[in-house]
Amino acid sequence: MSDAAGRVAGKRVLITGAARGMGRSHAVRLAQEGADLILVDICAPLPDIEYPLSTPEDLAETAELVEKLGRRAVTAIVDIRDATAMEIAVAEGAERLGGLDAAVANAGVLTAGTWVTTTPQQWRIVLDVNLIGTWNTCAAAIPHLLEHGGSLVNISSAAALKGTPLHIPYTASKAGIVGLSRSLANELAAHQIRVNTVHPTGVETGMRPDSLFTLLTEVRSDLAPIFGNAMPVAMVEAIDISNAVLYLVSDESRYLTGTELKVDAGVTLR
Ligand SMILES: NC(=O)c1ccc[n+]([C@@H]2O[C@H](COP(=O)([O-])OP(=O)(O)OC[C@H]3O[C@@H](n4cnc5c(N)ncnc54)[C@H](O)[C@@H]3O)[C@@H](O)[C@H]2O)c1
Repeated sequence: MSDAAGRVAGKRVLITGAARGMGRSHAVRLAQEGADLILVDICAPLPDIEYPLSTPEDLAETAELVEKLGRRAVTAIVDIRDATAMEIAVAEGAERLGGLDAAVANAGVLTAGTWVTTTPQQWRIVLDVNLIGTWNTCAAAIPHLLEHGGSLVNISSAAALKGTPLHIPYTASKAGIVGLSRSLANELAAHQIRVNTVHPTGVETGMRPDSLFTLLTEVRSDLAPIFGNAMPVAMVEAIDISNAVLYLVSDESRYLTGTELKVDAGVTLR
């Protein structure tokens, strides 16, 4: 039993990519509403990813923010590409928190390039992290949800619904997450486990490959309008995505499964 109050009071939630950016924002928002958290991140750079990833200090800071809200945080430095390590980290976390109710597969990476410059290495790292890593996260969480049901929230992108260019492996990986999630939603519905995707438009975070900016301004500026939101904002904020995640984790969405929730300021309308 938990003494928590809030929209996800007493729920135990796994979040990947929790050290910074949107993952940290999801952790704080869920903790504000009474959740305890298992926080996973690689906390190290990756080859072929041109911007820095998180650090161990970043992950510790997220845990501190959660604990300041009076909730529990279990951290694990794990590469989501490693299925066994994920299984162990989630099992240990669930044991410490007394179970698991939901998972947010949020960790992801982005490479940039045109169809001419995209490399096999970019394809492999982006699909490995974004698509197979999301699968590994779901697979590690599901055994803990089978008895009482739960919610899997897989972070895709507006790119997946729109076919956003200049990062084809990323767009493909995020579209793959939709197929994975719909398929899992069918298999798991009988167990009261819901599976949904979230599709953000651009959010200001550390996910910033400089080469994408160069491509958009110097090489294929004709494609820049595709990135424009319908609503008059250049980007939305992490909290806007976290509020959607909160809803999908909470019982307020108890009969939502297999949906694609767009938090995209209308970018996919254009
Ligand atoms: N920022 C945007 O504009 C945007 C738009 C749509 C969707 N998204 C998606 O939102 C999610 C969060 O991205 P963000 O913008 O907060 O980026 P970010 O780079 O700030 O955060 C991503 C986190 O994932 C971690 N990570 C990366 N590879 C990992 C691995 N193999 N194992 C474990 N952890 C790993 C990083 O260390 C980092 O802490 C991603 O899935 C991203 O694709 C981002």
